[in-house]
Amino acid sequence: MKHLLTTKQLTREEAELILDLTGQMADAVSGREVPKLPTLRGRTVVNLFYEDSTRTRTSFETAAKRLSADVVNFSAKTSSVSKGESLKDTALTLQAMGPEAVVIRHPASGAPQRLTQWVDGAVLNAGDGTHAHPTQALLDAYTMRERLGGIEGRTVAIVGDILHSRVARSNIWLLSKLGARVRLVGPPTLLPTDIDAWPVEISYDLDASLKDADAVMMLRVQRERMNDAFFPTTNEYARLYGLDERRLALMPGHGIVMHPGPMNRGMEIAARVADSPRATITEQVANGVWVRMAVLYLLLTNGDAQ
Ligand code: CP
Repeated sequence: MKHLLTTKQLTREEAELILDLTGQMADAVSGREVPKLPTLRGRTVVNLFYEDSTRTRTSFETAAKRLSADVVNFSAKTSSVSKGESLKDTALTLQAMGPEAVVIRHPASGAPQRLTQWVDGAVLNAGDGTHAHPTQALLDAYTMRERLGGIEGRTVAIVGDILHSRVARSNIWLLSKLGARVRLVGPPTLLPTDIDAWPVEISYDLDASLKDADAVMMLRVQRERMNDAFFPTTNEYARLYGLDERRLALMPGHGIVMHPGPMNRGMEIAARVADSPRATITEQVANGVWVRMAVLYLLLTNGDAQ
């Protein structure tokens, strides 16, 4: 594996290897006085972010630093991109610095794939348009494995704005590959039209969908990607598709509540649910660092480094 662009590209064995390595990274670093490994000393990782990010950018930076890599943070807003520089010219400029890896977030689906043509190092997709967000899906899968004891045979309901969600797409391919039953729940206007080709079940009824769900993944309503009115009002959306305490009580006792963040509290998820012990939201963020360490390690060393 040279790049990580999608979860669809991963075999089940590769996905399981990453999840196993994630656990090893957590074990290797947790409890150390200095939480660092020397594995990527002398290597450079560039974070190339054309879209805002709180979790993913800081998580990749932390992961690279915990592996002792040098990190260069590049934000489109404070670079020559604001003067009209193209992705290709930016990539060629970065390539001249010889990074071993480029982590890219971009509003255009497919931008990470294009980047692979212009840089020699590994390209890691940190979210492209509505297409893919593979490390988010991997950290979600790792969190489920830890909390539920496994993924095979589990039922996962992914709820809300599926149409605009790269997180949903990456989770669908990864979780189905790992043997989960994936159910998409949302208003018809927020479900894609090409969904028949996906390995999922569809429901428009959230209450019914929660009754046998081992995990429910609430998605942010992405108003910045919406050109039309996809639902009448935010109150109406919350009433039909928001996860509140009444709905949480419909889930099995062991069921967990996930959200990739950032959240619209009071819309897709009630504040009391987001803050409940059933929610894994901050745990997902913490696990993200171990997952990204595992992926950087695999791509930059082929799994060979000590
Ligand atoms: N989950 C996620 O991608 O969050 P950020 O947009 O903050 O990186």
